[in-house]
Amino acid sequence: MSLLEVNELCVRYDAGEKQVHAVDGVSFSVDHGETYGLVGESGCGKTTLAKSLIHLLDANGYVESGEVWFDGTLPQWEDENGNARREIIDDDRYPVREDGMTDLTKLDDQQIRDVRWRDIALIPQSAMNALNPVYKVGDQIVEAILRHEPATTREEADARARDLIERVGIEPERADDYAHQFSGGMKQRAVIAMAMACNPDLLIADEPTTALDVIIQDRILEELEALQEEFNVAILVVSHDVSVMAEICDKLAVMYGGKMMESGPMGEVLTDSANPYTLGLKNSFPTVEEEQRKLISIPGSPPTLLDPGAGCRFSARCPFVVDECHSAHPPMYDVEQAEMGKRTEANTPHVHRSACYRVDELETMRTEAQKEETWQQNTTQTH
Ligand SMILES: Nc1ncnc2c1ncn2[C@@H]1O[C@H](COP(=O)(O)OP(=O)(O)O)[C@@H](O)[C@H]1O
Ligand SMILES: [Mg+2]
Repeated sequence: MSLLEVNELCVRYDAGEKQVHAVDGVSFSVDHGETYGLVGESGCGKTTLAKSLIHLLDANGYVESGEVWFDGTLPQWEDENGNARREIIDDDRYPVREDGMTDLTKLDDQQIRDVRWRDIALIPQSAMNALNPVYKVGDQIVEAILRHEPATTREEADARARDLIERVGIEPERADDYAHQFSGGMKQRAVIAMAMACNPDLLIADEPTTALDVIIQDRILEELEALQEEFNVAILVVSHDVSVMAEICDKLAVMYGGKMMESGPMGEVLTDSANPYTLGLKNSFPTVEEEQRKLISIPGSPPTLLDPGAGCRFSARCPFVVDECHSAHPPMYDVEQAEMGKRTEANTPHVHRSACYRVDELETMRTEAQKEETWQQNTTQTH
């Protein structure tokens, strides 16, 4: 059973008379203990998606529709058949499914507060700059533990904070330092330690390496992987950087303009990419193996998400655009079927999927996408 199952999630922001369609019909699922990546250019809805899961959207943001099923939040017991059940299964204040999963979108403020930190911890974008300058770093972790686990004593919390600090590669004595005495990489590690304070099942890390130099980035990614192995925590990692994803993810979803364009096992998405946007995004990032390759950027800029029109969100920048692309945003097709020239909608989020009407012409798209001239043509003229 999955840890997290997001179903047709739509998130909007009110902007005067109009709405920003920041996340639009996104479905995916994260298993226990796996690393799931969300990648895409700035403004495609990654942070909105991450924050919406635990009700941390800005005041003008809201979940318009969809479900966020999570395996947790209520104490679990086994019924006579050995199936996992949640304690309050008959309590209709908790939207609990037969298999014990809870829909987080239906929880009230108090219920979701219980979920945050204990079940799902979020490391927000730029969190390392948000460490409190007037408290010792260790004390900030202690406070986090005490706030969420009132039964824990200060001594126990203090020992756990030092242990966590050590696990993320900082000498435990440094717990008595203030944030300004830490380097950028150390601050980011401290923030990760803080997020792990209550041993969550899911850690959401929004751009955890973005402000750091490449060497430090690598170390942070290694720390995350080590924590994951030790605590079996699932990680939902958000980044605009394909290279970061290639290093740590088990599964990867590529987002564009509030939509999921492609998703599946990381190796398949990055090696056997099946969507023009993924192909373009890959062209624009250096990879370790191909250092000499010329980087090709995707011309144009991401769409405005204020009342987006019908049609594929990527159509205005896509070199493979055809008439059908303007009809409606494409559904997610099954890539395995597409490799055999068949266009069949994917019936589960677990398989390699791609939202592209030309998914059955994969070979041509992959070959053409490698050529610089493909991306140089003025795509608007083909409309
Ligand atoms: N509070 C807000 N009000 C209106 N629009 C917003 C707000 N926050 C984000 N947006 C818009 O929502 C879209 C998605 O933003 P975001 O989730 O931050 O993307 P990403 O994390 O991928 O860069 C962008 O178009 C952004 O301008
Ligand atoms: Mg963001």
